[in-house]
Amino acid sequence: MHLHKYEKIWLTFGIGSLVLFLAVLGVAAFAFGQQPPSHMASVDSQNLEDTVFAEPGLDQINEDTYRARLVAMTYGYSPDTIEIPAGSTVIFEVTSQDVVHSFTIPGTNVNMMITPGHVNMTEHTFTEPGEYLVICNEYCGTGHHYMQMKIEVTP
Ligand code: CUA
Repeated sequence: MHLHKYEKIWLTFGIGSLVLFLAVLGVAAFAFGQQPPSHMASVDSQNLEDTVFAEPGLDQINEDTYRARLVAMTYGYSPDTIEIPAGSTVIFEVTSQDVVHSFTIPGTNVNMMITPGHVNMTEHTFTEPGEYLVICNEYCGTGHHYMQMKIEVTP
């Protein structure tokens, strides 16, 4: 079979484009991962005791920054209270040990879904002293309406 010169050029161009397209697709999938961008890390929800969530609580990172690792569950959060001085920025890392919950602080822009198997992260700076209530606004069962924790911001 004799291929015309232009046919060869177009055939090469076509295969080249296909290879390039697949390569871009592969790199893009690798770069962005398989999960939505808010899910920065995975965690084994069946074995939280073997993870950084074994002892949930507050760690001070520097003068005015804290990290709060919290576990959401039916129907509450562990720990159920954290206390920080006013002006603190808190990086929240929250996971669920069972079903989907949320971590919502009314009156702020903190409102994230808490999915088992993922470390869900957000941060907030608490400038005003007071007692902040954290609530769950993803229906998670019969005790959903009682699911809450407190953030005490001291003057
Ligand atoms: Cu947890 Cu609703």
